Amino acid sequence: MVVIKTISGRRVWDSRGNPTVEVDILLENGAYGRAIAPAGASRGSREAIDQRDGGSALRGMNVKKAVANVNEIIAPAMVGRTFSDHAAIDAAILALDPSPMKQTLGGNATVAVSLAALHAVAAAKSKPLWQHIADHYQRTASIPLPEIQIFGGGAHAERRVDIQDFMIMVPGAKSFDEVMEITSEVYFAAGSIMAEKGRLSGIADEGGWWPVFDSNEEALETLVAAIEKTGEKPGERVAISLDIAASEFGNNGKYRLALEDREMDTEALIDMLGDWLDAYPIISIEDPVGEDDPEGMREFTRRYGDRVQIIGDDYLVTSNELVKEAIEFGACNSVLIKVNQIGTVTEAVETFLTAEKAGWQGVVSARSGETEDVSISHLSVGLGCGQLKVGSFNRSERMAKWNECLRIQDVLGADAFVGGTPIANTWWGKKYLK
Ligand code: PGA
Ligand code: ZN
Repeated sequence: MVVIKTISGRRVWDSRGNPTVEVDILLENGAYGRAIAPAGASRGSREAIDQRDGGSALRGMNVKKAVANVNEIIAPAMVGRTFSDHAAIDAAILALDPSPMKQTLGGNATVAVSLAALHAVAAAKSKPLWQHIADHYQRTASIPLPEIQIFGGGAHAERRVDIQDFMIMVPGAKSFDEVMEITSEVYFAAGSIMAEKGRLSGIADEGGWWPVFDSNEEALETLVAAIEKTGEKPGERVAISLDIAASEFGNNGKYRLALEDREMDTEALIDMLGDWLDAYPIISIEDPVGEDDPEGMREFTRRYGDRVQIIGDDYLVTSNELVKEAIEFGACNSVLIKVNQIGTVTEAVETFLTAEKAGWQGVVSARSGETEDVSISHLSVGLGCGQLKVGSFNRSERMAKWNECLRIQDVLGADAFVGGTPIANTWWGKKYLK
């Protein structure tokens, strides 16, 4: 049992220099928790609403109302009350805002309170956050396999390339530490190849290189060359993961690749991605078609679901209802879990458990607008979900999350890392990469 002494919201600033909501929760027993709301740029249309003030100041992005919702609505309703655990606090948040997209309080207000409550309850039990999560949900903690961005594109690099995330995964590494080492080599190899060819223009929103490529294939070729430059054979220990984020360049089954000045329908997009799956060592693909194209998602899954991880992000927005529907419908085989897409920890975990029960992979993920908050590292470890997507290998709001996993690995030991298997011996490798 915990008794809430104070809940205080304040405005802080995220990695893009936008305002966001931070919440401190102090319990009567002296334990305390703090969390900060992240923010997306390529948002799904059905995700929890970030309450922003609008108007001309701060590009309409101010969060005075959301902070006031914490201090003037949530705090008075909760302070002095006794709760059994963080889930009971989440239930109280949901009672204050039962709307599906958190329109009343703002998802940025609810997620900061929910995560701060998770931290405070863990502190009250004198447990590290990951341990509290593992114990509460009766999970076996493990160190996740990261998806790490090498080039940024789409909404994170002013659409300089159409595809949003060109990432690597290193399932063949023996420890999380080794993943970091290999990633660092690949990241800088990619940067030097791009610089030599005059293809490097800076750093994108999530820390990946901001590329100047002529085609999406040039990005894939460069990524393969970068992996090879480090002495790795692509597809052996290191493979490619893509977030197509197709909702950003598609509408009603019509897709427009601006980079190549090319328009295509769903069938042509699926064929093009299928060609990439044949030509490159890709083991994971996110939002291959738009969120408004469920038939396309089902067709893509029917054709490639036995050889590649197909993640729904904008399509599923961490919603338990949408994940249930997609399982039934046969679209996707994995789900991205972003707590702020749904608004509370309880709901995000519920969605993850639904997906896992259906044999899906759950991938805990950051947003493109992030902060020093490392809650998601603990969430992925505590749930033992197996994968974590945080952005690139650059900028402290990203590195803080990777570094937190290294600290937890020191406690759990290298054996707790879920990787360590050459890709050829994994399910996707057996079916595809040999
Ligand atoms: P975001 O997108 O900009 O909405 O955080 C990240 C992603 O698509 O995974
Ligand atoms: Zn995505």
